[in-house]
Amino acid sequence: MSKQRVLTGITTTGTPHLGNYVGAIRPAIEASRDTNNESFYFLADFHALIKCQDPAAVHQSTKEIAATWLALGLDTDNAVFYRQSDVPEIPQLTWFLNCICAKGLMNRAHAYKAAVDANLEEGEDADKAVTMGLFSYPVLMAADILMFGAHKVPVGKDQIQHVEMARDMAQRFNHIYCKNEPLLTLPDYQVDDDAAVLQGLDGRKMSKSYGNTIPLFLPEKKLQKHINKIKTNLLEPGEPKDPDTSAVFQIWKAFATQEQTAEMRQAFAEGIGWGDAKKKLFALINEEVAEARERYEDLLARPADIEAELQKGAEKARSFSRPMLEKVRAAVGISGLA
Ligand code: TRP
Repeated sequence: MSKQRVLTGITTTGTPHLGNYVGAIRPAIEASRDTNNESFYFLADFHALIKCQDPAAVHQSTKEIAATWLALGLDTDNAVFYRQSDVPEIPQLTWFLNCICAKGLMNRAHAYKAAVDANLEEGEDADKAVTMGLFSYPVLMAADILMFGAHKVPVGKDQIQHVEMARDMAQRFNHIYCKNEPLLTLPDYQVDDDAAVLQGLDGRKMSKSYGNTIPLFLPEKKLQKHINKIKTNLLEPGEPKDPDTSAVFQIWKAFATQEQTAEMRQAFAEGIGWGDAKKKLFALINEEVAEARERYEDLLARPADIEAELQKGAEKARSFSRPMLEKVRAAVGISGLA
């Protein structure tokens, strides 16, 4: 069987948190060790500009996310790890896709529709504060995917529609321009149902937009402090507690072995105090992240080394994107005249 090409992008806004780690980063790094896969992971910094117009924040986030993946042991000889903006072929492909993508398809994109609905709700103009970037976000994302002929695109549920749209655009492009042999590969999304979705400090899904996150690499004291802030109920030590409605237990489960999970379940039944449970949770998480945290701090102090990794990745990525773009250009009738 030929190798499965797996590709995913990480938007460079914010600092990686425990939810990103267990939901996306940890499984991606594991998948990159699977020799049946060819992994492409990239920092989606063009996408970041759609959500964030604070240059320092985008720059800082790019550095932190790159350092995080490297510190956690992503093998950049195996996986292609690059920054979207270092691959100039991507915005070119974006244009070609813009020219075949129906506007009506974009009208149906969830993120755009949500923005429109919110505006109408408030009696505003439907497109208030909607940029062309937000509107055509799925076209750029399709270019990211189709450029590298990805078969599988691991994403969160909120991104499934975007991968389906990429598939649509690939089909349309092939239909219009590649009568004999399809050029663009039709991608499939991959949603990992086993990957944990973590609850945040307030019990809702851990997400930057809720401001309820626990950053992945905090100094020990701060990590403990954050964990202490996880919302609990008023049950006293000695009173049995329900693990299945507890954020402390849900987070525990994402880091624990099956055996440790069973033990904690038992401890809840026996009325472990919240303070105790949180101390144990801290110790468990700290043990898993401590080594990587040191490498992370070390890398952040040597940004030139991070940059060198990204340049190495960009070179590899472009060895795919350059010939692909040549074919796309030829297919649409843009090529030299000689
Ligand atoms: N839109 C994705 C997100 O916000 C990030 C992303 C950009 C992406 N380009 C991609 C994911 C290509 C998968 C494939 O999560």
